[in-house]
Amino acid sequence: MGAWRLVALCCLAQCSAITAQPAAFYEFTQPEYVYATPSRDGIGKRYMGREISHVMGHQGAAWLERDDREPEERTDLLVAELGLQATDVVADIGAGTGYFVFRMSPLVPQGEVLAVDIQQEMLDIVAERAAGVASNVVPVLGTVTDINVPAESVDLILLVDAYHEFSHPREMGESMFRALKPGGRIALVEYRAEDPSVPIKPLHKMSEAQAIREMSSLGLRWLETRDSLPQQHLMFFAKPAAEGAAPGV
Ligand SMILES: C[S@@+](CC[C@H](N)C(=O)[O-])C[C@H]1O[C@@H](n2cnc3c(N)ncnc32)[C@H](O)[C@@H]1O
Repeated sequence: MGAWRLVALCCLAQCSAITAQPAAFYEFTQPEYVYATPSRDGIGKRYMGREISHVMGHQGAAWLERDDREPEERTDLLVAELGLQATDVVADIGAGTGYFVFRMSPLVPQGEVLAVDIQQEMLDIVAERAAGVASNVVPVLGTVTDINVPAESVDLILLVDAYHEFSHPREMGESMFRALKPGGRIALVEYRAEDPSVPIKPLHKMSEAQAIREMSSLGLRWLETRDSLPQQHLMFFAKPAAEGAAPGV
């Protein structure tokens, strides 16, 4: 057999071996970002029709911990609605000062709460608060494209008032998808864009339809939207369960 014929046959065999592999579970397309002149609170970058807002700086940390936040936003109800199990591993992405981290950590005594943020100053606040009192809290420094959490390690991802300011929502979405265990959930909490009486700037709100569009494009399944919070959508999404798992997940 000629050398070239041998090479061609080897290539053919290799190609068929590659195509015989099952398709990767998650294969993402390139993000389609559109750039324009920034509006007042935006970065001038649009994703799926939505302009991304500026990131809230650590200088605003006190606002996250304000006294009237609980009665105003019913953050107590939000945490109760998550349905956490004692062994759950939870990742709070865009955790800020850890407002939700420290409300969740006692509910997962055999689990962990990963506090992910891109601002080291926020993580320093979390670490200081956790020292000696919350051994299951782990601060994690992420990047604008990667949450830096191992694949298939998380039961629930919580996103409160953070997703709309991710500068790379597609890459962050892919990273969150990878970190979820099969059947794992995302709880996405955003101020209601449909409600003009919610006193928040437009780019810091999201409509339910937009959120479902963006999450669905990642391969996540919309489970439900709860109306229990006064100002925010509480939307649940799930990563498909592993093949052969019990139906309904
Ligand atoms: C408005 S704060 C909300 C903090 C917290 N979730 C809360 O409700 O108290 C948004 C946080 O998201 C963080 N953030 C923005 N982009 C991020 C990204 N790509 N990855 C992780 N955190 C991010 C910001 O640094 C900021 O701390």
